[in-house]
Amino acid sequence: MTDTITPVGRLTAGTVTAVLHAAALAPSRHNTQPWRFRCTPDGIDVLADPVRSLPATDPGQRELLMSCGAALFNLRVAIQAHGIDPATTLCPRRDEPDLLATVRPFAKRSVDTRIALLAGAIATRRTNRGEFSSRAVSAPALNAMRSAAESERAWMPQLDTTQLHRLRELVVTADRIQRESAAVLRELNEWTGRAPTAVDGVPVLSTVNGSDAWLLHECGGSGPLGTPTVVVIGSVEDGQPDRVRVGQAMQRVLLTATAAGLSVSFISQPVEVPSARAELRQVLGGGIWPQIVLRVGYGGPVPSTPRRPLHDMIAGEQVRTG
Ligand SMILES: Cc1cc2nc3c(=O)[nH]c(=O)nc-3n(C[C@H](O)[C@H](O)[C@H](O)COP(=O)(O)O)c2cc1C
Repeated sequence: MTDTITPVGRLTAGTVTAVLHAAALAPSRHNTQPWRFRCTPDGIDVLADPVRSLPATDPGQRELLMSCGAALFNLRVAIQAHGIDPATTLCPRRDEPDLLATVRPFAKRSVDTRIALLAGAIATRRTNRGEFSSRAVSAPALNAMRSAAESERAWMPQLDTTQLHRLRELVVTADRIQRESAAVLRELNEWTGRAPTAVDGVPVLSTVNGSDAWLLHECGGSGPLGTPTVVVIGSVEDGQPDRVRVGQAMQRVLLTATAAGLSVSFISQPVEVPSARAELRQVLGGGIWPQIVLRVGYGGPVPSTPRRPLHDMIAGEQVRTG
């Protein structure tokens, strides 16, 4: 199967393998890794893997598209870190909706420090569900994260104390709604608490007491550790390409945070339950669609989460015409 990793344009087969490894280190809901990659003579295609969707938790596949967007961003940065500029086209073919992007390596470029920093953070970034210290996140780090979102055409508002209070109520309500759904619970049980040998899903070692209880506590506004820093990544539009785009923005924000020594965890419930998402949109002023909520701070070390072998993510050969 690895013989489907072929040279692509200016990239040797070895470089293609390295950049695909980097792409696969992207975060994904429940570590489903819902992407596939296809090498063609002139580019690398990023495809959704609908078999790895979460029909109850993510019925619109919004988070699946964001996860693939995150993989796409890693791919772009890894190619740039090899001194090649990639040209990216989102959702290029109407007759192939699972094809989310085509990345064509097209010109040599020098590697600037900004790209080197982002590329260096790909392997060290991880979701940190532990407690964060009371140290305030510095304004320059938050500004860098905001610019990272904006350079990928997304927005990153930070919640003030009143908005945080409202968010907590939304998290509690959304969490209750989700726990009333047998199908959502089934997906949670299926994909989390995995044995250390599993190649996908969230390992038991990465969860805190096996539950999301921390987030109800952490979102509670001013606690013993101070007021948490919580940001939302949002977009003006909410269609398929917008979700892939916002996934790239999310990953750029996460890598920027990692490079600044910050830890981040995800708060999905209020964007997964439609009524909570609509309310969160209003809390943010009504102008953007909230796509993901992130808690940011300084946390301790956490173990890495496994990934499937690369050959499992390579789409079968398919000749593209036209
Ligand atoms: C769109 C999206 C939503 C996520 N939502 C949650 C969440 O609600 N709770 C959580 O603990 N982790 C969440 N995660 C983090 C994933 O579980 C994590 O990315 C995955 O387990 C891989 O681990 P890593 O990020 O450390 O590489 C989310 C990730 C993505 C991309």
